[in-house]
Amino acid sequence: MKKIISTVFLFLLLAPQVQAISNGENLANEKCGACHLMGQITKEKLSRMAAPPYWIIGKKFQAANNNREESIISMMDYVYNPSAEKMLFPKETRERFGLMPSQKGLISESELRAVVEYIIDNSSK
Ligand code: HEC
Repeated sequence: MKKIISTVFLFLLLAPQVQAISNGENLANEKCGACHLMGQITKEKLSRMAAPPYWIIGKKFQAANNNREESIISMMDYVYNPSAEKMLFPKETRERFGLMPSQKGLISESELRAVVEYIIDNSSK
């Protein structure tokens, strides 16, 4: 009984922190990780990479926009409405990986915002 109580206590102690640290990162892995390298770099992820990794995306959007909020808005727009004209990556990226398919209906706006904030805040300018 004592063991159960201490296990439950430990879980309650750790669970909220784990969630707070990695909500955006977890979602990024889940929703974008099939193509993009998101979160921790592993050999396995590198071997199946089918789109640019998150930190290069973050740098591009920060360089092309005036501030954090603008970077977030324009990245969210791209994810729902990608197009060759809007692409910040050079055309070689499209030739190699193809144009990104729209993620409309696959990720909610609030989830996407958490993902995009994670990307922007974890890639230096
Ligand atoms: C089915 C594969 C796939 C998924 C899933 C995917 N992407 Fe992409 N993404 C691509 C490819 C391919 C490119 C490179 C071509 C392009 O820019 O359209 C790309 C490019 C991008 C770009 C750069 C656009 C630019 O300016 O060139 C952003 C931003 C982006 N993805 C964000 C996301 C986010 C955020 C998610 C998850 C919500 C996501 N992607 C999910 C394939 C994917």
